Amino acid sequence: MKSFEHTTHASRVIFGAGTLSRLRDEVERLGGSRVLLLGGRADRAAEVLGALAVARFAEVAMHTPVEVTERVLELVREHGVDCLVSVGGGSSTNLGKALVARTGLPHLAVPTTYAGSEMTPVLGETAEGAKTTRRDPALQPRTVLYDVELTVGLPVGVSVVSGFNAMAHAVEALYSPQADPAVDAYAVDAITRFARALPLIAERPDDLDARADALTGAWLAGICLGSVEMGLHHKLCHVLGGSFGLPHAETHTVVLPHVMAFNAVAAPEAMRKIAAALGAPDAPAAVFDLAARLGAPTSLAALGDFSLSEAAALATAKPYPNPRPVTADDVLPLLGEAWRGDRPAGRPDLRRLADQVVATLGPAPNARVAELVGDLVRRLHGFVVDNDLTEDEWKAGIDFLTRTGQITTPVRQEFVLLSDVLGVSSAVDVLTNSRSPETTPSAVLGPFYVEGPPSVPSGSDLAAGLPGVPLRADVRIVDLDGQPVADAVVDVWQSNQDGFYDVQLPDLEGPVLRARLRSDDDGRLWFHTILPSAYPIPDDGPVGQLLRATGRHPYRAPHLHFMISAPGYRRLITQLFVAGGDYLDSDAVFGVKDELIVDFPGDSHRTLDFTFRIAPDRTTS
Ligand code: BEZ
Ligand code: FE
Repeated sequence: MKSFEHTTHASRVIFGAGTLSRLRDEVERLGGSRVLLLGGRADRAAEVLGALAVARFAEVAMHTPVEVTERVLELVREHGVDCLVSVGGGSSTNLGKALVARTGLPHLAVPTTYAGSEMTPVLGETAEGAKTTRRDPALQPRTVLYDVELTVGLPVGVSVVSGFNAMAHAVEALYSPQADPAVDAYAVDAITRFARALPLIAERPDDLDARADALTGAWLAGICLGSVEMGLHHKLCHVLGGSFGLPHAETHTVVLPHVMAFNAVAAPEAMRKIAAALGAPDAPAAVFDLAARLGAPTSLAALGDFSLSEAAALATAKPYPNPRPVTADDVLPLLGEAWRGDRPAGRPDLRRLADQVVATLGPAPNARVAELVGDLVRRLHGFVVDNDLTEDEWKAGIDFLTRTGQITTPVRQEFVLLSDVLGVSSAVDVLTNSRSPETTPSAVLGPFYVEGPPSVPSGSDLAAGLPGVPLRADVRIVDLDGQPVADAVVDVWQSNQDGFYDVQLPDLEGPVLRARLRSDDDGRLWFHTILPSAYPIPDDGPVGQLLRATGRHPYRAPHLHFMISAPGYRRLITQLFVAGGDYLDSDAVFGVKDELIVDFPGDSHRTLDFTFRIAPDRTTS
């Protein structure tokens, strides 16, 4: 379970095409009548505001220098301003926040890029070459008006780097220690949208749907930025922008894949989600490749001059949350790589490699086989990259699979057992058999079923005198309407009181604790046996080693196996678990389902009374 704290920062958000026409109403809603308009491209906003716009300031500067803020404050005082409207990218929004910090005036933001600052309570300012940030809920714009039409004219180059800036918020949110399910969902959705929208925008900058996708992504990434503290990437970009004057969004674009590559080993789950959102096996490489493909800058050298070691020292001077501990010595090579514009080191172009492998699969005679193998190849490549798999680890894996194969025989199905303990058998079982909630749930077959068990009449004793707590089992088979299913073939098998199946005890004469019975006209059958016990699955092979290596026990909760077949019905393979038995919560093969935990009442003699509901076989009707 993950505990979390989530604060939803209150702001009114209006999203759509042409929403700028509502600006005047929204200003009045905030009680504004004397507006200072901030931003160089605010002519349309000025038109809509008419007489409400009493002053304008167009020369917004990047990184929000306090000298500029002081100058604008004069305007606020001079014109008796009672409301601030910022139109533009992060710098305009930030100037609005800087003024809010000094005046407390209401602020309405009209973002025209994907910077996301409008959704945060964070203000970044620069004074004497140093960037400082502060966080205060009062700093978040009261209203945010997103007008997709305003972003259509955003040049492709700016759109792309601004999109990477937004993706950086989502990426760092996903591996933030403060992340929560809402932030995760926003972040993945934002990355998915940008991965989809940016290539479309690069091709057709006036594609309104792609623009809407990107602006929605910007809003969601902005929420991420406002909800959790950012890590190394944002710190580095603040330093490079605030102290060395590098351009904000371009710097984000160049630095992001390198920080992701650095953090990947410490945040494999986040990287998996990002890679999936980008549709690629390796998240850092995919971010780098996307930037390169869209013609965005990939090298810091192209953005400005600065001292790498000074930047590394500044970026690590104070602690902040980051999935991988970071020192100036770590940052230096990372910055060098970003300076040169190299593909992130250790992230070979595995996207192309996986693509090459998948390309060899077609045209396949069986499309489904090609699809499954292709997806498996991509996931395996992703596994190798995300976990930085070493050659020794890979060899250990191959050796494990080799030994699993070597021990496997028709009666020792080690691969099935492996699938069982990894929960894969149960996953396939759930997908295959649990689509109809009205039937008795199924459970895994297990390795101890033997074809053609001895047929016996109802009332037989399956235990043949074996020691154990006597059990009388009464079973009924009905259809989905509760009508009896007559002449159903019911195979039953179970372990003895020491937890062994007959096939595991070579000295035993003939089959015991297994039988085939048939239901009567009322769908009923009954038999005597003994109470099943918990038992360890075979753990003297590679699967047992795997369980020990991962600190797991090999035990199954006590259960009786059933296989029920009747003409015209879907075969049901399931198990009934003894309520109160051991390991119900930690069954080694994940076979326990709540509906299959059943009371076996009694003391020295126990009973079982259970009705199985089976479904018609739609494939035969
Ligand atoms: C069983 O219940 O017989 C079983 C199922 C999966 C693995 C091992 C044993
Ligand atoms: Fe079993």
